[in-house]
Amino acid sequence: MRPLDRLAGLRWPAPALLAWVAGWAVWFAAAPIWPALPAWIAAAAAGIVIGWAGGNPRRRVIAGAGFPLSSWVLGAAAPLPPWVWLLAALPLFAAYPLRAWRDAPFFPTPATALQGLDAIVGRPRRIFDAGCGLGHGLAALRRLWPQAELQGIEWSAPLAWLAARRCRGTRIERGDMWQRPWAGHDLVYLFQRPESMARAWAKAVRELEPGAWLVSLEFEVPGQPPSARLDGPGRRPVWIYRIERAAPPAPRSIGAGDCR
Ligand SMILES: C[S@@+](CC[C@H](N)C(=O)[O-])C[C@H]1O[C@@H](n2cnc3c(N)ncnc32)[C@H](O)[C@@H]1O
Repeated sequence: MRPLDRLAGLRWPAPALLAWVAGWAVWFAAAPIWPALPAWIAAAAAGIVIGWAGGNPRRRVIAGAGFPLSSWVLGAAAPLPPWVWLLAALPLFAAYPLRAWRDAPFFPTPATALQGLDAIVGRPRRIFDAGCGLGHGLAALRRLWPQAELQGIEWSAPLAWLAARRCRGTRIERGDMWQRPWAGHDLVYLFQRPESMARAWAKAVRELEPGAWLVSLEFEVPGQPPSARLDGPGRRPVWIYRIERAAPPAPRSIGAGDCR
């Protein structure tokens, strides 16, 4: 297996962290012996090549842009010692613990992203946003079902705190959506990442009642045909899955040979 293929197998955000570290490592190695411009280009190229293994285009940009952006910021504030920038990164890690990055970084649900969902799923009474961020998904759900009982869970403590303040009348917990039971909800909403979807489907089938819904913005459950899908120009797809009643065990035919 080629080294870049190996990188592609790493869990996000490891490829981004590696790309940023690689960019800076090349810079520190090259800057003392080369003129600044070629050293900078070599460092940016190292980050971009490693970042390319990051996966989808958005992740490639995040990983590849790390060195150029941070060197630009540091250059603009050259008199500050580098440890100041490490300190500045601490709030980011507090808001986004790495565990949450693995499922999805912060991308809010656009206000109108779920338009039309009510016509398909009817009137769910208890709705759960798994990984609710700042509560934009909850707000979009509230617009569709003003009377529903809404709940959300969020791994990042600051985001959970802010979401609870933004979404009055909605119960928001800080915790891990994978540990928290989903049972009792008529609809579970997710806006996570492609790799989380198989796990989310397995949990939904295990814990939700037949007739309940799993709804995912943008990312589909691999290998599982949706019950419906909302799509259109300028909008992200909404994948809608109805949890079916478990098939009853096939009746055993009793023939003459079965009598003992
Ligand atoms: C793409 S954002 C979506 C936020 C919100 N659902 C919305 O649509 O506006 C995904 C959120 O899931 C959170 N998250 C990721 N993994 C989680 C986990 N295991 N438990 C709880 N929240 C998680 C992230 O911190 C992030 O805020």
